[in-house]
Amino acid sequence: MLRNLIFLGLIGICLADCPAWPNKTDTQINWWPCSSGPVIFSDVNQTDCNGNYEYPIHLAKPLLIVTQADNQGHVYSSPGLKQTINFWEWNDSTCTWTAMPTFGLLKNLDACTNGVKCPIQMGKQTLTLELDFSDVESIIKMLKDDWPYQLQYILHDDPTGDQMCLMFQARAYVTN
Ligand SMILES: *[C@@H]1O[C@H](CO)[C@@H](O)[C@H](O)[C@H]1NC(C)=O
Ligand SMILES: *[C@@H]1O[C@H](CO)[C@@H](O)[C@H](O)[C@H]1NC(C)=O
Ligand SMILES: *[C@@H]1O[C@H](CO)[C@@H](O)[C@H](O)[C@H]1NC(C)=O
Repeated sequence: MLRNLIFLGLIGICLADCPAWPNKTDTQINWWPCSSGPVIFSDVNQTDCNGNYEYPIHLAKPLLIVTQADNQGHVYSSPGLKQTINFWEWNDSTCTWTAMPTFGLLKNLDACTNGVKCPIQMGKQTLTLELDFSDVESIIKMLKDDWPYQLQYILHDDPTGDQMCLMFQARAYVTN
């Protein structure tokens, strides 16, 4: 009897803990840096390709991630600066993020020809990262519309080994 009560209690906790929109992503983006320098990110805003703030985001169209950054490392440029994007879909029954396959399409790309304005200079600046999944339709097609996604955006500089990393959780539309 006691064991059953404990078991039911645990189920209760699990259900209560499993939001349809983790981290309030129904109304706002959640982001955090996943690298500890040498580029320090202090703010992030997401806009459509014309610079208009948008939320939820539209993943099937180009979007801009406008960051306030302070580069305390090196000047980064092509071909050394590489971009990798990983992403996850929210599972609202298991309360976990499920990694989505990207078929190598978003791995180790030349960052400077994939949405980063190069060179990235030293010091404080507005660093805009363009995300364009419209040419990777194979990925977009697998995604649920109006759903929480988590995206990891990594810039790795091969010559210096410096790495910049941002995590985003956002509600996204995947239709046009
Ligand atoms: C919510 O966001 C925090 C960071 O802001 C993160 O550590 C945590 O893992 C997130 N929760 C989920 C369910 O993704
Ligand atoms: C981000 O966008 C919001 C909504 O338009 C605006 O209030 C805020 O000032 C913007 N922040 C930055 C750093 O641009
Ligand atoms: C969540 O995960 C379960 C177990 O792996 C799976 O059966 C279900 O289809 C997933 N649901 C979503 C919405 O991804």
